[in-house]
Amino acid sequence: MDTCNITIPVSRFQWDELTDEQRRLIEVAKEQIHCSYSPYSHFSVGAAALLANGEIVRGANQENAAYPSGLCAERTALFAAGAMYPDQPVRKLAIACYTNEHYLEEPGAPCGACRQVMLETEHRYGGKMEVLLYSTSGTLVFESAADLLPLVFVRENLLG
Ligand code: THU
Repeated sequence: MDTCNITIPVSRFQWDELTDEQRRLIEVAKEQIHCSYSPYSHFSVGAAALLANGEIVRGANQENAAYPSGLCAERTALFAAGAMYPDQPVRKLAIACYTNEHYLEEPGAPCGACRQVMLETEHRYGGKMEVLLYSTSGTLVFESAADLLPLVFVRENLLG
């Protein structure tokens, strides 16, 4: 038997340590909190995707009385980006979570389904997609969506 540890590279940045581009994207994700439709969880998530052409595509979680029919903020943003700009790689994705009248003090981690979709987005365009998880105590920056999902299942696995 072999055992190994999988380590995930991630950095925590304070607001003044982020680039202007990162800060702008996070501001958009925070603004998107107001577009969240979350009458069931009262947990609002905003997302903003920066494309290679400079466009920012916005997302927010959209819930439904039939719970599984709802969709997370990250996937609304990434699917909207794919639907509107199919040829534009997504370079960065910022996420902000808000509940009980506060942004989270610790970064909210994207769910497994969103991580899978982030990975597909990264593979689809063949470049790294930076992921920024905002919180009031700092922003976690993952250089690549792949860092959020080791042992990923992607197109190559289907081809065998
Ligand atoms: N949610 C997101 O939008 N993104 C995530 O990665 C985690 C969860 C949403 C889904 C649901 O509307 C609410 O947060 C509570 O789970």
